[in-house]
Amino acid sequence: MKFYTRKLIKPGDLNANNTLFGGALLKWIDEEAGIYAMTKLDTHKVVTKFISEINFVNSSKQGDVIEIGLEFKSIGRTSITFSCIVRNTFSKKTIISIDKIVFVKIDENERASPHGKTIDNLGFTVKNKPL
Ligand SMILES: CC(C)(COP(=O)(O)OP(=O)(O)OC[C@H]1O[C@@H](n2cnc3c(N)ncnc32)[C@H](O)[C@@H]1OP(=O)(O)O)[C@@H](O)C(=O)NCCC(=O)NCCS
Repeated sequence: MKFYTRKLIKPGDLNANNTLFGGALLKWIDEEAGIYAMTKLDTHKVVTKFISEINFVNSSKQGDVIEIGLEFKSIGRTSITFSCIVRNTFSKKTIISIDKIVFVKIDENERASPHGKTIDNLGFTVKNKPL
């Protein structure tokens, strides 16, 4: 898993309990994973299709620095799937884990569209399965 964007938790990111608001975190993850999908599929025309069960493992508080990690899981005809872990940059404690985030390439009519990518031309290796 590669960790990309880091975020400093600020007052505007907190919920009523003064811990990180889950909605803020999901927005950052969706954006980060969306950009990752765009770079891998070579198009900005991607939409979030599916997010699997989300496990809020630990809370985070103001002043914490967190980092968003993504890992390639699979590629389909129109879709690409990642898993995600967000952790505290210093303690490495997991804040959230998501098993599957699916993005779909769309055409000018907003319909699912083949991206033409395969496991071979993406340049990824699937975990524990060297290509
Ligand atoms: C994305 C969208 C165009 C896909 O339309 P669709 O009719 O579901 O298309 P398909 O059934 O052909 O599925 C497209 C891909 O998504 C995958 N998919 C569909 N439902 C899925 C699900 N529940 N879980 C995982 N993958 C799923 C399919 O397997 C397919 O992948 P593949 O081509 O790589 O095999 C349409 O659902 C849509 O516009 N959704 C709204 C997207 C959006 O606005 N997102 C922003 C957040 S609101």
